[in-house]
Amino acid sequence: MAVGIFDSGLGGLTVLDAAQARLPDVDFLYYADSAHAPYGVRDVDDICALTQRAVEDLWSRGANLVILACNTASAAALRRMQEAGVPDGKRVLGVFVPLIEALTERQWGDNSPPREVATKHVALFATPATVATRAFQRELAFRAIGVDVEAQSCGGVVDAIEDGDMILAEALVRSHVDALTRKMPQPEAAILGCTHYPLMEQVFQDALGPDVRVFSQGKLVGDSLADYLQRHPDMLGDGPGGYLTTGDPRKVSSRATQFLRREIRFDAA
Ligand code: DGL
Repeated sequence: MAVGIFDSGLGGLTVLDAAQARLPDVDFLYYADSAHAPYGVRDVDDICALTQRAVEDLWSRGANLVILACNTASAAALRRMQEAGVPDGKRVLGVFVPLIEALTERQWGDNSPPREVATKHVALFATPATVATRAFQRELAFRAIGVDVEAQSCGGVVDAIEDGDMILAEALVRSHVDALTRKMPQPEAAILGCTHYPLMEQVFQDALGPDVRVFSQGKLVGDSLADYLQRHPDMLGDGPGGYLTTGDPRKVSSRATQFLRREIRFDAA
């Protein structure tokens, strides 16, 4: 009864961890396309092709539902995959919508017209590819009006995290926050629009200051997945859980163990 969780690399573990805490009886099959990470510097066609291949692999292993725990894949590939049609009994969902619902304080599935919301100045931190798609602004516009979004494309952060170089990752986060606050001096909220960034959440919060509310996806996605599975129990799937990578399983296992602070063992995809 596994649910598939996909990311280009280790960032999706921040979503997996929250989903496991929220749904302890559900098995998850995690897929890290480490051989092709980072996705954030690739073009849209490339991201779509890689995402499609990984999702099909997860479906073929028994997952009925696959969560794209990767904003870059959600931004570039999700709509295209859904519009092309998915096989009978299979689903693929992204991670943008729960975040936007939390930011705009709208209930899950509230399809009423966009309206004014309390938070007016929002900083978006994401990969270059996610920022270029403007998918976040497009999804936000369906739900809210009058929100000023300043996006900062955070080159290098995902590579540094995947390499386990947290000193470089911290320096890059601070310089990206600096660049953002030069464009928008007083954001009210900051969106960590890449699932790798919660691993640096304290650094973002520290650099932004205590008055900025930082939104990250783990818990929000965990809650919305629990709600979804309650309404669609057939989406639980029938394969076993586990951890798969297209990269070097030993290296990926060691980084994952370091990030989640518990033993994680990846197998070759
Ligand atoms: N965790 C992915 C995301 O949420 C990282 C993308 C990348 O591989 O650059 O966007």
